[in-house]
Amino acid sequence: MSADFKGMDVVSIRDFSREQIEHVLKLADKMVPIAKGDERSVLLEGHVLGSLFYEPSTRTRLSFDAAMTRLGGRVLGFDQPTGASVAKGETLADTIRMVSAYSDVIVLRHPQEGAARLAAHFSDKPIINAGDGAGQHPTQTMLDLFTIQKAKKDLEGINVVIVGDLKYGRTVHSLSEALAMFGAELTFVAPPTLQIPKEHLKQIESMGHKPRQSASLHEVIKDADVLYVTRIQKERFPDPAEYKKVAGTYRIDLELLKDVKKDLIIMHPLPRVGEISPEVDSTPHAKYFEQAFNGVPVRMALLSLVLGGHR
Ligand code: CP
Repeated sequence: MSADFKGMDVVSIRDFSREQIEHVLKLADKMVPIAKGDERSVLLEGHVLGSLFYEPSTRTRLSFDAAMTRLGGRVLGFDQPTGASVAKGETLADTIRMVSAYSDVIVLRHPQEGAARLAAHFSDKPIINAGDGAGQHPTQTMLDLFTIQKAKKDLEGINVVIVGDLKYGRTVHSLSEALAMFGAELTFVAPPTLQIPKEHLKQIESMGHKPRQSASLHEVIKDADVLYVTRIQKERFPDPAEYKKVAGTYRIDLELLKDVKKDLIIMHPLPRVGEISPEVDSTPHAKYFEQAFNGVPVRMALLSLVLGGHR
């Protein structure tokens, strides 16, 4: 299996088979004590991660940093393009050529959909997509699956309700396709203008699924095993007036959770900007902070696999 991953780009969740994802998740489980700092590792000592963030990030950037550091490797890069020669007009292709000469693997977040695929073309080192515009966020999907698997054991047949900005929310694009691959039942809840794009719906239907679509969370929440909440992606709206029309459409609070299943888990890729009331944080349903931590062991597993450090 190691040979399958070594040198592999991680651009889209579609690049992975179910067996490959399961392999990553199994390895991530073994990484948890190292991710928590309870055990030490020098597995990736001598390796360098190039971390290029053209858009803001807290979880993805810092959990990749933590993952590489916990495995004994080093990190270089930038957390905003204004501090790099990008500000002088350097192209993505040239930046990638440079950083691939200075590092062994590159993690890239970029506002343009398709940027990670383009970067992979110009890099002779593996490219890991840390989010490309409204495109994909495959490592987020893997940590989401890891979190669901920990809570629910088997993903086959579980009812996952995904709510919020399904048009611009890249985490949802990767996750919905992966959940379909694992046999979960999907319900998409969004205002009509922000429903899941046809391209993703078709991909899910091609796997034999018939996802439900609704604008009302009240209608569907009672049957949910997993509620996956997303932020309305203000920064991706071409027209601020359109954002204002849908901002604040859904808010998860204790009142909404009155009749839900006892073992419902609530997830969110974060950051949240009002979709989940803080009073929900102390309920047993809240899984989003654990989900964010899971980024560390999952990204440790991926880094060690693409760098050939693990079988
Ligand atoms: N989930 C996620 O991508 O968060 P950040 O934008 O903070 O990296």
